[in-house]
Amino acid sequence: MTDERLIEAARSYREHAYVPYSHFAVGAAVLAADGRVFGGCNVENASYPLTNCAERTAIQKAVSEGARELCAIAVIADTDAPCAPCGACRQVIAEFGIERVVMANLNGAVRTVRAAELLPFAFSGRDL
Ligand code: THU
Repeated sequence: MTDERLIEAARSYREHAYVPYSHFAVGAAVLAADGRVFGGCNVENASYPLTNCAERTAIQKAVSEGARELCAIAVIADTDAPCAPCGACRQVIAEFGIERVVMANLNGAVRTVRAAELLPFAFSGRDL
């Protein structure tokens, strides 16, 4: 699975975004170690804090399908720069040890970083 294909999966899941409040559609796709890809979109709620980001939707789908070994995540939105995951999603990305974060926008800009760059000194289960 190339980064390009993971981005394409994220882009197609973005089409399903439920964003009646922000009108800001986000797509994500997670690559599991067994080769499966799980996509997600943001799902908003009239009670705003209940909104689920695209990245967390995709990760929750992967885990709930039995995929816990996760290698990479792509995220895409209509942003100027490649779309960066929010802080809450960074924490969830860290929880599952997803190493590669591929950020993209609709214009083809891509930036790939390691999760530890996005969330240095992450709080983890090892701290408990
Ligand atoms: N959003 C995501 O889906 N992922 C992020 O990492 C940043 C924010 C969504 C949440 C909300 O539906 C909309 O973008 C505006 O914040």
